[in-house]
Amino acid sequence: MSSKITIIGAGSVGSTIAYTLSGEDIASEIVMIDINKEKVEGEVMDIEQGTCFRDPVSIVAGEYEDAKDSDIVIITSGIARKPGQTRIELTQTNVNILKQITPEIVKAAPKALYIIVSNPVDIMTYVFTKISGLPENQIIGSGTILDSARLRCGLSEHFKVAQRNIHAYVFGEHGDTSFIPWSAARIAGVNVDDYYEMMPGFEKLDKEAMLTYVQKSGGKIIANKGATFYAVTRGVCKLCSILMAASESVSTVSSMMHGEYGIEDVCLSTLALVGPKGIHSKIPMTLTDEEVEKLKISAEALKAVIAQIEL
Ligand code: 2OP
Repeated sequence: MSSKITIIGAGSVGSTIAYTLSGEDIASEIVMIDINKEKVEGEVMDIEQGTCFRDPVSIVAGEYEDAKDSDIVIITSGIARKPGQTRIELTQTNVNILKQITPEIVKAAPKALYIIVSNPVDIMTYVFTKISGLPENQIIGSGTILDSARLRCGLSEHFKVAQRNIHAYVFGEHGDTSFIPWSAARIAGVNVDDYYEMMPGFEKLDKEAMLTYVQKSGGKIIANKGATFYAVTRGVCKLCSILMAASESVSTVSSMMHGEYGIEDVCLSTLALVGPKGIHSKIPMTLTDEEVEKLKISAEALKAVIAQIEL
């Protein structure tokens, strides 16, 4: 595939994305940009020197102007969440970093599709939407892609069925107020509760425990190994291939709300159709009243943070 992808931020997430893209058939050109020149050059050398073992891919450490004509720009910059720190505590620091990056990168690559990965991702997506001046379809927060992946992983282990047979999602904030719209969770097209009834031999699913597993996974991984980067990388690389595909796919990405479920002026994840033009549209999936209430609680929590930050 002859696409050009620029990655801003050469930390664990940015570098793992670059490394993974260099081994997949998604990008022919990768540009990495980081304020720390030594680090980004080191990462690029390390990745580039393995590229002879696959089809050629160009990878360079560059400046903002090298992002010109990028199809996709992935923003991963920011200070990583430390053990015990909530995503929200990171907010102003990472917003300030984003405010420095945005005018430069948007000037260099105004037509690119932007994937925002930096945490707290919903706030960063909101800030980027507000300050970039770009059409909203070009702005895609990685949102609860990772949370939905964690859910599918957990359900797959519980029901001993392949993850590809599970369609279940996490909505709302990528963080503490996320929730699982169980009314839409399906295994082989069957509602999860019905699946449990029709398939003997499984323990009853503890839905609260499953949500806790999803919500606490990031914190547990950070406590155990200092950072999370592999699973989010898989999610972002999949998103890149979706953005380069001929048709749209369904994903839980974070984007601006415009009255859907009675929510507006905040970015969070619901189902969206995503493809070559970025976010094509949201999918107005029916939620129960209780689920809509949970989405609103998530929106209010994010708005409370937005109200505290300097844009
Ligand atoms: C995660 O949930 C830290 O947002 C990152 O893995």
